[in-house]
Amino acid sequence: MEKRGGFKSKFGLIAAVGGSVVGLGNIWRFPYLAGENGGAAFILVYVIICFLISVPIMISEFSIGRAGQSNVVNSFRKVAPKTKWELVGLLGVVASFVMLSFYCVVAGWSLEFLKTSFMNGFAGQGSEEIKEGLTSFVNSGWRPLMWTGIFIVATCGVVFLGIEKGIERYSKIMMPMIVLILLGMFFYSFTMDGFKEGVSFLLSPDFSKITPKVILQALGQSFFSLSLGMGAMITYGSYIKKETDLSKLASTISLTDMCVAILSGLAIFPAVFSMGISPTSGPDLVFITLPGVFNQMPGGYFISIIFFFLLFMAAITSSVSMVEVVTSYLREEFKIKRFWGILITGVVVLFTGSLSALSQIEGSSLTLFGMNYFDFFDMISGTYLLPLGGLLTVIFVGWFLKPEIFRNEVTSFGMYKVRLLPVVRFLIKFVSPVVITLLFLSLLGII
Ligand code: TRP
Repeated sequence: MEKRGGFKSKFGLIAAVGGSVVGLGNIWRFPYLAGENGGAAFILVYVIICFLISVPIMISEFSIGRAGQSNVVNSFRKVAPKTKWELVGLLGVVASFVMLSFYCVVAGWSLEFLKTSFMNGFAGQGSEEIKEGLTSFVNSGWRPLMWTGIFIVATCGVVFLGIEKGIERYSKIMMPMIVLILLGMFFYSFTMDGFKEGVSFLLSPDFSKITPKVILQALGQSFFSLSLGMGAMITYGSYIKKETDLSKLASTISLTDMCVAILSGLAIFPAVFSMGISPTSGPDLVFITLPGVFNQMPGGYFISIIFFFLLFMAAITSSVSMVEVVTSYLREEFKIKRFWGILITGVVVLFTGSLSALSQIEGSSLTLFGMNYFDFFDMISGTYLLPLGGLLTVIFVGWFLKPEIFRNEVTSFGMYKVRLLPVVRFLIKFVSPVVITLLFLSLLGII
């Protein structure tokens, strides 16, 4: 079998894990969900969930991976031999495929927008025209298909180059740059008419908007954004050195990710209101808003190119982590070469990704439960699969995993004194399972 790589430097580790978590989830999905779910109320719930539920789950996933030293499925098998828990790992592999099937399509949009920015194709366009442009792009069928395909090939290429060379190198430079541009846009938005309205939409919560569905969506989004519930952090955990402080790493990563998401909301909503776009526009929201903002900004031509390029890079460092989950599983479980694992994954995702791109054509018959495949994959993974994966993970760690294994990982075998350990245990054992279960039950109409 091929040797497992590992992260060489601390910064490389943060960059790669950061690269996985910061992605379309922050910049595309978070703003559109916040817009659909009442803005500030959603964000408040989101932040609470990140601290109370997601950080402990991330610590749990890292621990399973680092203790298991293997792919998702085998890590579960190693820490809980001869049990059925490895099926949770398998669920993660399935979820990765579902996620990739729509993630690559949106990533493809960022490439189309990059191309259009480059050709100055948005110049002088208002939100209506940008929206029409997006619609005709999506309806053309072959263009989204092409970009989706290109993105998938690029992702597989990066994974093929190997863990540190492929992933670390890019993330180090790109991550801070994205934050800078978003910050710039936020400051620029001070000058917009919609600034007040946008900021108050994001920051003054209307508590009547908080329903179980909103909470479950916030939970799903938090998992989505932090790459939880499908084994990505278990897979990455297996590459983390024994001396790394897992709880510190999980807190740093989560905090960064949350800030990037909120920052991108702050950069986008003032423009949404200034341009008279509906905050409930759904998955199109960010794509129809941004070019309009760049049009007004000084130097917008260049900023637009840089932004969509960075969005593409942010997407690729994330899609790479999803592919990594699948290929490390295929490679180690079926003893196939890295290349074949990547090829198989790529071909399957090319197929499912194409279906979801084509399903967006108006009147397409590629639908499931009254939604096109794209929306269905987005919804089923974000609202159900990831929360389910997270739920099973906390139940496992809280109730079935030997407590010493968890303690040894979290404290790095006694190297760190984690004062909050009892609190983390409590959150994992009781709070997370109860909250997630109640949410599922209420969504299914049982309570
Ligand atoms: N977190 C990424 C984003 O915000 C998406 C992602 C990458 C992901 N890997 C994942 C989500 C694994 C869940 C599981 O764009």
